Amino acid sequence: MTQDAILIARSVFPEVEDKLRQHFQVETTPPGVVWSTAEFIERLRGKAGVLTTGGERIDAALLAACPQLKIVSNLAVGYNNFDLDAMSAAGVLGTNAPDVLTETTADFGFALLMATARRIAESEHYLRAGHWTQWSLDLFAGAEVHGSTLGILGMGRIGQAIARRGAHGFGMNVIYHNRSRLDADTEAACKARFVSKAELLAQADHLVLVLPYTPAAHHTIGAAEIAQMKPTATLINIARGGIVDDAALAKALREKRIAAAGLDVFEGEPKVHPDLLTVPNVVLTPHIASATIPTRTAMAMLAADNLIGYLVHGKPLTPLNPEVVA
Ligand code: GLV
Repeated sequence: MTQDAILIARSVFPEVEDKLRQHFQVETTPPGVVWSTAEFIERLRGKAGVLTTGGERIDAALLAACPQLKIVSNLAVGYNNFDLDAMSAAGVLGTNAPDVLTETTADFGFALLMATARRIAESEHYLRAGHWTQWSLDLFAGAEVHGSTLGILGMGRIGQAIARRGAHGFGMNVIYHNRSRLDADTEAACKARFVSKAELLAQADHLVLVLPYTPAAHHTIGAAEIAQMKPTATLINIARGGIVDDAALAKALREKRIAAAGLDVFEGEPKVHPDLLTVPNVVLTPHIASATIPTRTAMAMLAADNLIGYLVHGKPLTPLNPEVVA
């Protein structure tokens, strides 16, 4: 039986590529290369599957140009790069990589919160620049983390893992808002209290965004929402670019309407709004919340196993539109 041809849209670890080569004719992408949409479509023609990384848009035009495509396996838990309706209409399966990154991403959410509240990046730059000449009482005095109020917007698996860290590790008062309220047992395990979005904005000392991006979630946090936050608050975005209005946030940070922000995701990334690059009270990281070697390996292996599961055995592990499989 001839093997299906697949494309790896961005370079992955060798062991992942080796595993895929046992089942498919594999076309890879050299490290550091990101194809334009036209180049990507050109490479995708004739392929039965593709391993994407969340940066490749899969829409009706691409699907029409690649009629042999059967599965797009995203090496990410988020899949806002998929037009899932168009994929279902074209009979193309979408899969993502959930669960394996939950705890690692929550660790990073907490790291970013700590770095932001305790001004770690800002003070490190100051020291490296040779500005540290004496101790002073208020030198980089930041916000308290333990015992403060942690607000979480989006209480899925990662939100819950952040809540557990805050409540059990740091004795924080955890409040959350979500499309639907969690059941009582889950709320108890997270020691988290459901509040309205308005209460969340008003009460949080640290507000962490972990909701999925959808068009309806665009600019969930803009100037009006920031105005409802405490002037001492910190805002952390590890969700998706576009959930925060980055221009409005940069202006609010400059005007000290909130104390500080920590951002791992950006509107239009890898471009970053230029105003964010010049305000001191923001910690900026390049979309690395799930980036540990074990976790990125597990995510890539799950993405590979979805390709093998579907194309070889007819059984994907984490399908997003399972009606296509039946
Ligand atoms: C990363 O942002 C992911 O969705 O896995």
